[in-house]
Amino acid sequence: MMTTVEMVLLLKGIELFADLGGEDLAAIALMTRIEEAAAGDTIIREGELGDTLYFVVEGTVQVIKAGQVVAELRERDVFGELALLDPEPRSASVVATEETTLLCLGRDDFVNMMAARPEVPLGVIKTLVRRARAALDNRA
Ligand code: CMP
Repeated sequence: MMTTVEMVLLLKGIELFADLGGEDLAAIALMTRIEEAAAGDTIIREGELGDTLYFVVEGTVQVIKAGQVVAELRERDVFGELALLDPEPRSASVVATEETTLLCLGRDDFVNMMAARPEVPLGVIKTLVRRARAALDNRA
């Protein structure tokens, strides 16, 4: 069981939340829950609907689209933001490659937070841009 202080430190290390103050981070800590995944567990299944955003606290996950590994995400990375921002089926599956600890946040809490704190949507845009760039580089 993590203390609020430990959760705040953890959230501070996540790019989306890096510019937020301690009070905001403590509020977010109360909205999130911790989930553990074992190696091989499917956290998100391509094509399903979902309204949870995930942050990797510890461990590694693979993003698998149409059976192909398209990315590997690790500590402090975020995933599940696409279906959260635009309620379409999940674009890929996400599978733990080892014992992985995740921080989970529901859509309503995330949307409310984005409305209250402009730093958060800016961080989300940055993440999306980075992934779009990586996808373009892979195509070149
Ligand atoms: P979502 O579509 O909600 O669920 C699957 C998630 O995998 C997706 O959100 C992204 O967070 C992540 N994802 C999909 N494609 C890629 C990619 N090419 N690189 C990194 N992450 C991805």
